[in-house]
Amino acid sequence: MLKATWLGHSAFKLEDGKHTLLIDPFLTGNPMAAAKADEIAADFIVVTHGHGDHLGDSVAISKRTGAMIVSNFEIVNYCLAQGAKAHPLHIGGGHDFPFGRVQLTQALHGSSLPDGSYGGNPAGVLVRMGGKVVYHAGDTGLFGDMKLIGDRYHPDIAILPIGDNFTMGIDDAVYAVQLLKPKIVIPIHYNTFPVIAQDAESFKSRVTNDTSAQCKALAPGETITL
Ligand code: NI
Ligand code: MN
Repeated sequence: MLKATWLGHSAFKLEDGKHTLLIDPFLTGNPMAAAKADEIAADFIVVTHGHGDHLGDSVAISKRTGAMIVSNFEIVNYCLAQGAKAHPLHIGGGHDFPFGRVQLTQALHGSSLPDGSYGGNPAGVLVRMGGKVVYHAGDTGLFGDMKLIGDRYHPDIAILPIGDNFTMGIDDAVYAVQLLKPKIVIPIHYNTFPVIAQDAESFKSRVTNDTSAQCKALAPGETITL
């Protein structure tokens, strides 16, 4: 069993009944946030890249809850220096944690940290938890090796940015679904700010017409159970 809750923008909460894992918990300053950084529970926090709308409240949540941050080596060093708990990975590598496995994948984007320091390469993540495989693409443009991710890891859910401007827009995200072949696709990284305004219903109808996946355009705070 896996419960997946969209917390707005790229932030997700995954729960298997025993552990709570957050992905990219940008809550403070996020106009779409469906949770508060000083209240949310977490055991693990996965961070795709160093930008403020992804690293977000990770350090503060780790320090309050003891949650372990899982990210690339450069971001982990930044978090450790601020007193957070953290485990370093890098692209292609994965590690088994008490809830399951996290593996970093490539993403086409940037990754500077809030203080301007180098955040390593940006990543997508594969999370195995509750018997499911979740692919969260982070911030990325379309790339052909999404087919490799689909063929090799068979994601049950693909969580994909559709906001355009900084990441894939709707057209490329529909193509990404064709490459990844997930059972379910959830659009993220749209409507948070005017420059990434998109119509999720249009994405949903394109996914329904052009792919074999089911699109769940969640409202912030909405949960699906798999
Ligand atoms: Ni970014
Ligand atoms: Mn972003």
